[in-house]
Amino acid sequence: MKVLGIETSCDECAAAVVEDGRKVLSNVVATQIPFHAPYSGVVPEIASRKHTEWIYAVVKEALDKAGLEPKGIDAVAVTNRPGLLGSLLVGLSFAKAFAWARNIPFIAVDHMLAHLYAPRLALDDPPEYPFLGLLVSGGHSIICRADNFDNITVLGTTIDDAAGEAFDKVAKYYGFGYPGGAVIDRLAQSGDSGAFRFPLPNLHKGEHRCDVSYSGLKTAVINQLELFVRKRRGGETASGSAVPSWTRAQDIAASFQKTAVDILLRALFNAAGDTGLSTIVAGGGVAANSCLRACLVERKDLHCVFPPLEFCGDNGAMIAGIGYHYLARGERSPLSVTPSARVTGFKKKYP
Ligand code: KG4
Ligand code: ZN
Repeated sequence: MKVLGIETSCDECAAAVVEDGRKVLSNVVATQIPFHAPYSGVVPEIASRKHTEWIYAVVKEALDKAGLEPKGIDAVAVTNRPGLLGSLLVGLSFAKAFAWARNIPFIAVDHMLAHLYAPRLALDDPPEYPFLGLLVSGGHSIICRADNFDNITVLGTTIDDAAGEAFDKVAKYYGFGYPGGAVIDRLAQSGDSGAFRFPLPNLHKGEHRCDVSYSGLKTAVINQLELFVRKRRGGETASGSAVPSWTRAQDIAASFQKTAVDILLRALFNAAGDTGLSTIVAGGGVAANSCLRACLVERKDLHCVFPPLEFCGDNGAMIAGIGYHYLARGERSPLSVTPSARVTGFKKKYP
């Protein structure tokens, strides 16, 4: 079954064709980063307008690259939750129209579950359920037990900011660039992660032992910038950055990144200990982080599976991939299905 997958939940306008949930025939991602970069964050109104302008061309390119006409598509899968409502609406409306016009099945899927599915697109030997999921993106940080592609139990989540959001906000305050995760990761390669000591949240015991928090770290890193500024008010700054030239931006990036990763790992390792699960599957934009990957690979007692970089960020292939499994079970969404900014219904809060 050849499934067209459409993803417009945030700032990537993406479409892909995947056969039988595994074989990626095409994967087109049109990023809006240059349009949001001047604002150091996603502007919802710009995002939905760009999706409206681009969606037709992106889907056409995905079909062309797969060597297919619309009639070669057997079903359509689309993200309808969670995300920016105005952005979700564009992909969802397009997907409905495509399915209705061609009279083919249509399924609306959860973006975060699709991130967890992403590694299965590339592996000959995908991990068996159950496993521990680490879902880390710009809007979510979720540690979960996955019993199937559509059955997760949330063990831990963030009590404030998401992991990717912390990277983006720190980068914004320091003027490092946008989006922050990739920029900080790159800067940190040549930095000293021990140069600054930033605090870990006090969540390692009791009901919060698998939860994470980023607001304290974010505030500490931002306060550090204010200290720099106060110390050398009016002094020179490194070009394009708010960090004074006498401080290495790389050291700030590396110290922040190491602490951000340690926060995730502490909760994740608590979850591994509590559940006895030793296979970890990572997904979402932050799963591209080189420090996170290196730290997890070091744990020889755990089997860590990461999606290839092209499937870490938002993409249509993961939507088509997970969509296939619902469709193969005979599930369909009604054309009346609506987008949803947030998701409810999981055991623990899934913000
Ligand atoms: O999954 P994703 O593409 O979109 C959402 O669903 O949110 O994740 C985007 C997030 C952004 O916050 C971005 O800064 C972060 O992933 N990110 C990274 C890296 N690459 C992207 N964070 C840390 N290290 C990276 N290498
Ligand atoms: Zn995402």
